[in-house]
Amino acid sequence: MGSHMVRYLLTNQHEVVVYDNLSTGHRQAVPRGVTFAHGDIGDAARLARVFATHRFDAVIHFCARSLVGESVVDPYAYYRNNVANTLVLLSAMNEAGVQRLVFSSTAAVFGNPHAEHIDEGHATAPINPYGQSKLMIEHVLEDAARAYGLRSVALRYFNAAGADPDGSIGEAHDPETHLIPNVLKAVLGQSAALKVFGDDYDTRDGTCVRDYVHVNDLASAHLLAIDYLATHEGAFRFNLGNGEGFSVREVIAAAERVTGKPVPHEIAPRRAGDPATLVASSELARLELGWEPRITRLDDILASAWRWHLDPGFG
Ligand code: UFG
Repeated sequence: MGSHMVRYLLTNQHEVVVYDNLSTGHRQAVPRGVTFAHGDIGDAARLARVFATHRFDAVIHFCARSLVGESVVDPYAYYRNNVANTLVLLSAMNEAGVQRLVFSSTAAVFGNPHAEHIDEGHATAPINPYGQSKLMIEHVLEDAARAYGLRSVALRYFNAAGADPDGSIGEAHDPETHLIPNVLKAVLGQSAALKVFGDDYDTRDGTCVRDYVHVNDLASAHLLAIDYLATHEGAFRFNLGNGEGFSVREVIAAAERVTGKPVPHEIAPRRAGDPATLVASSELARLELGWEPRITRLDDILASAWRWHLDPGFG
């Protein structure tokens, strides 16, 4: 997501400093001419140096562990990085007088929702440590608005998906756990048959339903959020999705349409921490931020990912 954001910011004539510990990111994905600082958000001294070296209008904070299943197995790692280290970053921003933050939050703050479309008024009740860690920071941001005047937008991504339509960057995770890349890897024979994690959920075909939203559309929401904070004080939250849910089986069918090839797959047990259905209402983001996602059809999102998987760059 960070790589896509950097490109989007450059296209919109902004200057960017990338701060990354490269635990999951790729140095080669940082475009030429962009300042790169290697560091961890838990490293207060390193952050202080970076904040002292440049003048920042805003911070966009993507540095997180973000795998639901892993968070259930190793919650300490999630609370350490996503909560404790985020506090180090927030303190460093405060020291440096940087007053605008866009924070990557997640649909996982909602747990098992009780509404067909989840809006910002929906109760938050995470069912895994990943969602819990993100919700904790949302609460911290509310307190920080009151105490320090920090202006922030938490963007709850639903399922970030797709690759840059120009084919230059896409999902390059190791290990890969996300559905769409795993579907395409199975098509290409780069992995064994796709495992469908559970077909006994209370959904139309028994498999989990998700709202897939293109990475470049998520990027545009971040820049709109920075602009929004120029004129709005406080801590805000917006849900980002396309408002339409697709089951795992429907994603497989769409991938077969887009690639023209079968997706080898088999049914496997449920994965811990997975809610049955997550679909966004993004009316508030449209209304308040003026957000208009552009690559909204599942087939188009898949086609962008497929183009990248056929000829992967760095990620
Ligand atoms: N799935 C499979 N097989 C796979 C991979 C995934 O069946 O090989 C299923 C999952 O069980 C899930 C769906 O496909 O039902 C989507 O899984 P992803 O791993 O692609 O995405 P998640 O829904 O787990 O995660 C996303 C975001 C998180 C967010 C979460 C909310 O990546 O940041 O939605 O649950 F927290």
